[in-house]
Amino acid sequence: MSASRETVERVLGAVESSGRHYGNGFPMIASENVISPMVRQACDSDLHGRYAEGLPGKRYYQGCDDFDTIESIGIDLAKKVFNAPFVNIQPTSGTVSNIAALKALVKPGDRITAVSTADGGHISHAQMGAVGLRGLDLNTYPWDADRMEPDIDAAAAMIREVKPKMALFGASVFLFPTPLQELADAAHEVGATVMYDGAHVLGLIAGGVFQDPLREGADVMTGSSHKTFPGPQGGFLISSSEDEKFQKKLNNAVFPGTNSSYHLHHVAGKVVALAEFEAFGTKYAKDIVANAKVLASSLASEGFDVLAEDRGYTASHQVLTRHGGVDSGAGRTAAAVLEEAGIITNMNMLPGDTKAMSPSGLRLGVQELTRHGMGADEMEHVAECFRRALIDGEDPNKVKKTVNSIRSNFQEVKYCYSE
Ligand SMILES: Cc1ncc(COP(=O)(O)O)c(C=O)c1O
Repeated sequence: MSASRETVERVLGAVESSGRHYGNGFPMIASENVISPMVRQACDSDLHGRYAEGLPGKRYYQGCDDFDTIESIGIDLAKKVFNAPFVNIQPTSGTVSNIAALKALVKPGDRITAVSTADGGHISHAQMGAVGLRGLDLNTYPWDADRMEPDIDAAAAMIREVKPKMALFGASVFLFPTPLQELADAAHEVGATVMYDGAHVLGLIAGGVFQDPLREGADVMTGSSHKTFPGPQGGFLISSSEDEKFQKKLNNAVFPGTNSSYHLHHVAGKVVALAEFEAFGTKYAKDIVANAKVLASSLASEGFDVLAEDRGYTASHQVLTRHGGVDSGAGRTAAAVLEEAGIITNMNMLPGDTKAMSPSGLRLGVQELTRHGMGADEMEHVAECFRRALIDGEDPNKVKKTVNSIRSNFQEVKYCYSE
């Protein structure tokens, strides 16, 4: 066999192996999800190789009539699902949505306020990411570590003092709704645009179980299409503005501003996911939050240090657990042991941690287990497996047998149409 053929087989073997690893275990990374069979069908299509620069009806290429139909249906559906007068469904990721919004709404040298990465903000809100790429002057919000949200009074005072051009909210560690109304009022008072990054919680927002940023003061909302919103990898750029000039600025920032090909197969997949979300999303979102609450209280009962007990642990898809002292790296060790037991998670910085590679905690997400049909009983079983692997110190391979056996009963993707 030729070396290149061997390489192809190795790669395809690893692709299959990765599928088995996730498919037999408990996938609990809060930013991930699985796609439905019909979304998969749209993604695995001829559109994969096509181009459609511009907007429906205004293209630079021939051959776009069918795709115009798809994107037009998608725009209408997304407006309904996100209850917004403006959407652009083209961005190829949540980060690209953020870059486009920053391109449209701020200029190099402008001031911006955002959640710091140490408090759970996303790298695209930081100097190392999109905020730095746009040359912005970043000021991070004073943080209430007990409530896991911006300190409302101090953050509002900071916004009034700093007078940013943009106040950016939302984060990657996202247990509770942001107190947006109060902070958006302060931002609008000083003439700032309010942007809400709903990458993680977009499905919960669209399902009506988290918060309603566009009615609480956000001018623009961005998000990923593949976390709690269960579509293919991609992004959305959404706005509450009816102003056509403002909307045009956003569209121009997506194309030609930050995208050329925008992965038409994924857009078609997003549109199928939007239609399925319209039918099943409210129930899915409700079940996610219910499962997260049960998982959090079950982990606490099993002896884990679960954050935010006073607030009921969580109001989203996420649960945070602390496994050792600040900067101890205990989160990293716990994630490695859990993976040996077939439970896939990620280490995460918690309040007080300063080192991203040796944090004390784990961030867990239940959106994918929920999508496979797991409910409250299974959340209790998941917590038991955590206890056996991390507290009892049982051989991870023995725990893995239980994990595989539970998971074998939850193979289908729910909250969608069957083929
Ligand atoms: C708050 C936030 N914004 C943006 C992103 C980036 O999304 P994507 O991975 O779709 O680029 C993430 C990713 O997890 C996130 O947590």
